[in-house]
Amino acid sequence: MRRHKTWFAVLIGLAAVVIALGRCGNNMPEAANANEEIALPAPETTGTMSVEEAISKRRSVRSFQDRELSLAEVSQLAWAAQGITAPTRGLRAAPSAGALYPLELYLVKSDGAYHYVPAGHKLVKVASEDLRGSLCAAALGQSSVREAAMDVVIAAVFERTTGKYGERAAMYVHTEAGHVAENIHLQAVALGLGSVPIGAFNPQQISNLLALPTDQVPIYLIPVGYPR
Ligand SMILES: Cc1cc2nc3c(=O)[nH]c(=O)nc-3n(C[C@H](O)[C@H](O)[C@H](O)COP(=O)(O)O)c2cc1C
Repeated sequence: MRRHKTWFAVLIGLAAVVIALGRCGNNMPEAANANEEIALPAPETTGTMSVEEAISKRRSVRSFQDRELSLAEVSQLAWAAQGITAPTRGLRAAPSAGALYPLELYLVKSDGAYHYVPAGHKLVKVASEDLRGSLCAAALGQSSVREAAMDVVIAAVFERTTGKYGERAAMYVHTEAGHVAENIHLQAVALGLGSVPIGAFNPQQISNLLALPTDQVPIYLIPVGYPR
């Protein structure tokens, strides 16, 4: 009887995985071309939409067209999130407690997954295939993650902030992720794109998918694309 129960539990578990993959599409990570670098075009620092207009137009968008982002759009979104805006002092677009910058950005697109490197404004490839389906499964099957042209994963290295701020560090790091996320949302609006903040996901699954270093914890997910 107990053996039957065990097999039943295994079958239920397998069915859950199959259902999630069915909703999200199946793609498993393969080794990327190690350290392949992509230089991003210089970001624009002026635009045609005011910040007031971007704030008033921002709305969570969960359904996207099947349309890629240009490299200029990817560049602009990465810059708005973590780009260096004061080169001599290395300060970035979003504020950071003690300028310790505990956040790392990963961009998951149809052609692979990339780590954003603020110094030099470039991407480093970490996976060669489309991981959006697997990322969708890690986000409880939310279709916005599969449909988006690009999913931004914000990962935190809490240790960068705990050294100076101790117990307050966790609060600071999450607050900073909010700053970065809002910059992405407003930049998306200014580019004619849509986005949605996603907090419901399994961080360990995302860590495994992107093969993140053990000190990096995914804390926020932001699908971005052309609204449907
Ligand atoms: C921390 C946080 C987590 C969220 N997680 C999700 C999520 O997992 N899935 C989702 O569809 N929306 C998520 N949202 C978006 C909210 O549902 C949305 O912001 C809210 O309904 C207000 O709508 P608006 O963004 O259009 O103003 C999240 C928002 C925040 C701030």
